[in-house]
Amino acid sequence: MKIILTGATGVLGSHIMYDILEDFISNDTKGKLYLITRNKGKVSAKDRIIELLSSNYTPKILLEKGTESLFQYIEIIDADLTQLQNSVIANLKEAYFIHSAGYVNLSTDEDQKEKIYNENAEITKTIFKLFSPFIKKFIYISTAFSSGIRNGLIENDFHNLEFELEHRNAYENAKYQSEEFVIEQCKALNLPYQILRPSVIGGKMLGTDNLYFIPKYMVFYLMAKFFHFTAQRKDLQENVRFIVNKESGLNIIPVDYVSKVVVSTFKRSDILQLNIVHNQSFNLVKGLQLIMNEVGYLNFSIVPNCLDFDYNNTIEKLYYESIGKHLKPYLISAASEYDTTLLNSILEIPKLDSESFSNMIRYAKLNNFKDINV
Ligand SMILES: NC(=O)c1ccc[n+]([C@@H]2O[C@H](COP(=O)([O-])OP(=O)(O)OC[C@H]3O[C@@H](n4cnc5c(N)ncnc54)[C@H](OP(=O)(O)O)[C@@H]3O)[C@@H](O)[C@H]2O)c1
Repeated sequence: MKIILTGATGVLGSHIMYDILEDFISNDTKGKLYLITRNKGKVSAKDRIIELLSSNYTPKILLEKGTESLFQYIEIIDADLTQLQNSVIANLKEAYFIHSAGYVNLSTDEDQKEKIYNENAEITKTIFKLFSPFIKKFIYISTAFSSGIRNGLIENDFHNLEFELEHRNAYENAKYQSEEFVIEQCKALNLPYQILRPSVIGGKMLGTDNLYFIPKYMVFYLMAKFFHFTAQRKDLQENVRFIVNKESGLNIIPVDYVSKVVVSTFKRSDILQLNIVHNQSFNLVKGLQLIMNEVGYLNFSIVPNCLDFDYNNTIEKLYYESIGKHLKPYLISAASEYDTTLLNSILEIPKLDSESFSNMIRYAKLNNFKDINV
């Protein structure tokens, strides 16, 4: 079996790589995993992958196997996705193509729009055109938030709806447009496809191996990071008002759960679209309380959305002019939940309660919110 994977140096892609390798080993599969990975100046793509396969966060089963042995399954294509040459990819026929590379950026700034579109939608179009003539199936990793602003129960199909979707930012829109492109093109070419959509990715929660580990702290972790360092810098904690819809929640799903679902689903022809999400969104007020408690910033209040909001102090200003600006559309959204019946039948969704949520934040705090950059 041949699998091509993009984004293997990323949060999700690295875990998809781990699980594919684990699957090859456990099932004694004669498989080949082609990783399209770019180098980082002097650090080759191969060295970046070796680092991912030989660190203290690497799953035990792979560490025990050793990198040399793991490379019997791996072939690296050292290239930027925008600069792939036909000659390099010509022998990758009949492979499953899992496209996990992307640019996660929830910015609402106008000047970020074009870059976000290009790095998500344009790249997807470029590689699709290159590979579609000879691959077996195109699997696109999107986001559950490509559904845009919704309330009530959200089903897996986002492309046969009787209303227009309203997106909160360029990222959601670019991911949705990529999905639409993939679906339309695959239908026209009679090429199998699959759209898999994680919600907000959190630390590991399955098993005991490196529990709560995540290589990069994004979204809710960024809020925790902001107040963690603010609490450390300032003796006087000024009151910060969070504009929040009290009914609403943030859907968080552990990275190892997402990758395991991707690996057990990508070959299934009966699943075309699947949200890889929690069965229950984490209430925002509760989540904020747990975050602030964990990082030790205790002077805050929850207020409803209002048109006139003047900053009361410098911390509010700093927060709302940075991370707060981009997170706000999520904090004021109406409550929604996903239909997870199908997902739960693939792999049981791990329980995310107050304790495990706090543990995710505590893990990040203990690691000083330091991303792992290979
Ligand atoms: N993180 C989340 O909370 C989340 C939630 C829902 C959906 N998703 C989706 O899941 C997918 C993976 O996200 P992630 O969290 O793993 O992101 P990430 O950690 O930021 O990783 C992005 C990956 O894409 C690669 N990449 C980007 N542009 C590239 C290019 N031009 N050429 C080669 N490689 C390129 C990066 O390579 P380098 O290391 O070389 O930069 C990296 O491996 C994305 O499609 C994202 O939209 C993520």
